[in-house]
Amino acid sequence: MSKKSKAAKRQPQEGAGDIVDLILEDHKPIWKLIKKMKSDDATVAQKRAAFKVFAPTLVAHAKPEEQTWYKRMKSKKGQKVEGLEGDIEHGLADKLCKELKHTSDNDMFEAKVKVLAELVGHHLEEEEDMLPSFKKESKKEERLALGEVYFRLRKKYL
Ligand SMILES: [Fe+2]
Ligand SMILES: [Fe+2]
Repeated sequence: MSKKSKAAKRQPQEGAGDIVDLILEDHKPIWKLIKKMKSDDATVAQKRAAFKVFAPTLVAHAKPEEQTWYKRMKSKKGQKVEGLEGDIEHGLADKLCKELKHTSDNDMFEAKVKVLAELVGHHLEEEEDMLPSFKKESKKEERLALGEVYFRLRKKYL
């Protein structure tokens, strides 16, 4: 094997990196859409448009997160409940997203989309509070390895 191809093999996938950074980066567009979906100034049409982007964006973030960070949490003593809590919150958001796709009544849509936005906003806040301690108790190599898995899965769900 040539020097060049060996080096290429060692290179992480482009776009991958520390899982903590990947998660925080993925939260940014989700936060923006949350704000739009719960805004009193937005029209129903604008909320529907935001939701259309939000639903697949959330899946492409949540599924890889479950299979990396949450999986790790559930394997650690004292963190299992937090990991399960995350899974449950993802499940509730998923259920609401599925319902919203078939909610034609505008008032019902606005009510449900607000609950969804508040639920996911609360969920992201909790995660962002937990990420610094995850960073403290883990090694960089582990976070990079998890980042690679996260990145690969994310592409699958996008
Ligand atoms: Fe999450
Ligand atoms: Fe997240």
